[in-house]
Amino acid sequence: MAFWQNPRWFDDSKRQEQIDDYIHATGKARFGIREYAEEKKAEAVRIHFDRVAPKYDFMNSLLSFGIQHAWKRAAVRMLDIHAGERVLDVCGGTGDLAILAARRTGPSGQVVIFDINRAMIQAGRHKIDPFADLGHIGYVQATPRRSPSRTTPLTVPWWGSVSAMSRT
Ligand SMILES: C[S@@+](CC[C@H](N)C(=O)[O-])C[C@H]1O[C@@H](n2cnc3c(N)ncnc32)[C@H](O)[C@@H]1O
Repeated sequence: MAFWQNPRWFDDSKRQEQIDDYIHATGKARFGIREYAEEKKAEAVRIHFDRVAPKYDFMNSLLSFGIQHAWKRAAVRMLDIHAGERVLDVCGGTGDLAILAARRTGPSGQVVIFDINRAMIQAGRHKIDPFADLGHIGYVQATPRRSPSRTTPLTVPWWGSVSAMSRT
């Protein structure tokens, strides 16, 4: 059944269940229109975003006719982030959402961009590093692993290898 004909797809937790069930049952995971052996997907994601990283922001603005900036502002507004809070931007990429979040947390808070792809993080650093008021944004590049059990609360990302990228 196509996903738009499937009402369960529009419920957050049911959607996640279906994705997990599919991976458990088949050992395969989807990325875009392609399907990979589960353990190969992270590598496919890395290769893809390595390639697009230098032009990611430009292409995103072009292809969305600039709407990406409006939805990012709306998304962060909906999170209702307050001064002093800590924010983890999972799949943070070039950091637009993290920057908006950091403006809300202020310097008493902390924002961490977590991404599998070093090239994506690097591509966004020129928007962050030169600005003292964004000094509370940090970076973690790591390879996440699926939580061993669906009932384990996912309070931190599961990862295999971690390399923190410091502000230099
Ligand atoms: C479409 S980009 C979004 C970037 C940014 N959040 C934005 O809105 O512009 C997706 C990002 O997710 C990252 N990513 C994909 N799968 C990931 C995973 N399993 N763990 C961490 N990062 C992942 C990619 O490297 C990429 O930077």
